[in-house]
Amino acid sequence: MESMGQLSRTHSCNDLGKKNVGEQVTLMGWVLRRRDHGGVIFIDLRDRGGITQVVFNPEIDPEVHAKAHQLRSEWVLAIRGRVEARPGDMANPKLATGEIEVLVDELRILNSSETPPFPLDEDTEVSDNLRLQYRYLDLRRPEMAANLIMRHKAVQSVRNYLNDNGFLDIETPMLTRSTPEGARDYLVPSRVNSGKFYALPQSPQLFKQLLMIAGMDRYYQIVKCFRDEDLRADRQPEFTQIDMELSFVDEEQIMAINEGLIATLFKDTLGLTLSPPFPRLTFAQAMNRFGTDRPDVRFGMELIDLTGIAAQCGFKVFRAIADKGGTVRAINAKGCAYFTRKELDVLTEYAAQFGAKGLAWVKMKEGGEWQSPIAKFFTEEERTAIASATDAVEGDLLFFGADSSKVVFQVLSELRVELARRLELLKKDEFNFVWVTDFPLMEYDEKEKRFQALHHPFTAPKEEDVAKLDSDPAAVSSRAYDLVLNGTEIGGGSIRIHQKSMQSKVLDVLGIGEEEANDKFGFLLRALELGAPPHGGLAFGLDRLLMIMTGSDSIRNVIAFPKTQKATCPLTDAPASVARKQLTELHIRPDWKE
Ligand code: AMO
Ligand code: AMP
Repeated sequence: MESMGQLSRTHSCNDLGKKNVGEQVTLMGWVLRRRDHGGVIFIDLRDRGGITQVVFNPEIDPEVHAKAHQLRSEWVLAIRGRVEARPGDMANPKLATGEIEVLVDELRILNSSETPPFPLDEDTEVSDNLRLQYRYLDLRRPEMAANLIMRHKAVQSVRNYLNDNGFLDIETPMLTRSTPEGARDYLVPSRVNSGKFYALPQSPQLFKQLLMIAGMDRYYQIVKCFRDEDLRADRQPEFTQIDMELSFVDEEQIMAINEGLIATLFKDTLGLTLSPPFPRLTFAQAMNRFGTDRPDVRFGMELIDLTGIAAQCGFKVFRAIADKGGTVRAINAKGCAYFTRKELDVLTEYAAQFGAKGLAWVKMKEGGEWQSPIAKFFTEEERTAIASATDAVEGDLLFFGADSSKVVFQVLSELRVELARRLELLKKDEFNFVWVTDFPLMEYDEKEKRFQALHHPFTAPKEEDVAKLDSDPAAVSSRAYDLVLNGTEIGGGSIRIHQKSMQSKVLDVLGIGEEEANDKFGFLLRALELGAPPHGGLAFGLDRLLMIMTGSDSIRNVIAFPKTQKATCPLTDAPASVARKQLTELHIRPDWKE
């Protein structure tokens, strides 16, 4: 192997173009591809920025050309040469540097590489595990590097915006106490305090409130959060929040500042001009129209309530459900009457995953005629009423869900998105934001037989609903808001409770007694007694935002070193066993087999 010697890099592999023709340049990078064309060797040289074609011609320098023969994928090179225009028909419009190539007169081989465990230059299906095991190779792929570059730009943009708006970047502890964001904690045993554990923060929620009480006025942090929960495409055990808190503001001000943040972010990173304010839906509207509090508003196919009609109809299933206080709703898949029986069966199975006991459908035929397994149960009049309510015309396909609202909302909201996926309505370059507001403060947990906070227990109730905390807690609305982008919750926050008496009251309704409250977050309750200003805030999921901005299917593609579905890291093999001695020091006696 050789050293770089006197060579010093002049450009990245994405820099050169027609303007550089004739210049002597030095590039360093990796061999992506090598082609041998009748004696002339072409190498696509790659670095973080991009790719440049470099050429070894025996007529320019036979020795350098001979040396280039040994080059293989992922070898590391330094080359010096002259920039030449590619002949017109050889230009590659897909490449930023596609109009030029570099004729090499000096080659230094800085390192060789074994054949990589998967090719980096093709879209070959590589197993996720292998990609994660060799993440440093995976990240060499231009689209992965582009994601990390985009992430960097996004963070810069957010920091600039928040710095310009008077926010202070303040760090909060990683070794702390459990915060009630609703997931399981990652625990860290204490060596010096036997039998005691730290928890990694699920979010900096309590600390950012304390910073407001400390008079810091506006705080932000781009911060790791840890939650031990079931993982999905948009969930990682450790993820990053853009976290903020503000004093002396109401929800309108917080939402306006965050619309500004998102607009600036999209301008700086994607060059897109958004036009806030973003539309808003109350929780009740979102549920009614889309069956979910994170509606994808890139397309229609809204839910239509047919309970009134169902209550009178001859179809026993629907009628019984309507009589029992359940709901019957439909969605109209416009123009989809051509779906085959097989497709309908697959969709019925899909719906069953979300608890559907059936999925009645109607194909709208000529003259308003119904082709449907349930056609016979409806009178002409009822059919007309349903067609009119669902705006159904010839060629449309209706789907019905009948059950408790909970089940119907879940089934039809999932079906709606699945249909949109099949109909290719989920455009990745469309970014539709919607605020969801007026959430219930709490909901009754049937399993635990008590109320649970929908956001977290520090969220303020709407002033006009306070009286209902005693009489009808489920009917109390909160001062919380979520920002939803293309059907994903990308952020959420609320105005907080800043008075001790109100905080105690809400904890009491949530069934968190004084003793438990004092034990878990007595420090916050105490701080609320010592001059807490009105305050509120919000946190965005940075990874989720970037997933959508980069058009990725999973947040893993925007995280340098993510974990698998089972929360493991195939690269480092974490989590791993530790020496018994370490456990003893931590006062832990294992009861697992080693
Ligand atoms: P919340 O729990 O809603 O609010 O989290 C804020 C945002 O973080 C993202 N997020 C996640 N992203 C990836 N993986 C996960 N496991 C994960 N969990 C959450 C979501 C979510 O909208 N302290 C409050 C915020 C506040 O009230 O100010 C909080 O943490 O995009
Ligand atoms: P059945 O009379 O049970 O064979 O049902 C007739 C049609 O109604 C079938 O297409 C079922 O899929 C559908 N169906 C049954 N129960 C429900 C329900 N709870 N919601 C929606 N459709 C249903």
